[in-house]
Amino acid sequence: MKEYWNQRFSEAEYAYGDAPHVSVREQFGVPGSGRVLCLAEGQGRNAVYLARLGYDVTALDFSEVGLERAQELASRAGVRIHCLQADLSTYVFEPEAWDGIVSVFGHLPAPLRARVNAQLHSALKPGGWLQLVGYHPKQLTYATGGPQEPSMLYTVEGLQAELGAGWIFDVAEVVERELEEGPYHRGISAFVHLLARSQQPATRNPLPL
Ligand SMILES: C[S@@+](CC[C@H](N)C(=O)[O-])C[C@H]1O[C@@H](n2cnc3c(N)ncnc32)[C@H](O)[C@@H]1O
Repeated sequence: MKEYWNQRFSEAEYAYGDAPHVSVREQFGVPGSGRVLCLAEGQGRNAVYLARLGYDVTALDFSEVGLERAQELASRAGVRIHCLQADLSTYVFEPEAWDGIVSVFGHLPAPLRARVNAQLHSALKPGGWLQLVGYHPKQLTYATGGPQEPSMLYTVEGLQAELGAGWIFDVAEVVERELEEGPYHRGISAFVHLLARSQQPATRNPLPL
């Protein structure tokens, strides 16, 4: 599978363009700070955008070719990003390491996706935020990008169940709109957008006796 992505990311044009996904751009429009992990970040378009806003960004992906292109994009933009080559099937999230986690179209086989999603709450610092974007099953009728395997697609309820307890959802919706993201995401599209904040577990804030 990694070779599939390496090949796609070797093409001359950035596969999904060099601009951030629309939900990232619309949600994060002003300068910010904190450590942000961009999961399955490919050629780095979201990571570079967030770094330009001032975030301290790490782009994680198993494709070394994707990460090379991400570093090129960062250099062109005059920002620094950290690149972490890792396979999510074996990656162990450090607890309370991140202020924010972003995952855009990081579609994984369902059992792996569930395992990754179950670790996101503990990977965030208390009060940290999470943005998840991925194609909805309705996308299969549009055929304008994304995996064709139905179990790899997202539903709001499915993601919420996998993420577990301890979240406040500011956005949890299915979006249908036109995408123009490089050669592979083009046209009317249906995707899930979740934006959530991790609630501090009560045990971290014991009331004084
Ligand atoms: C559709 S691309 C999305 C790239 C990027 N997030 C974006 O929006 O442009 C899916 C990405 O998932 C990565 N990926 C798939 N399986 C992975 C795994 N097991 N571990 C790490 N990355 C993985 C691929 O290398 C690819 O970069």
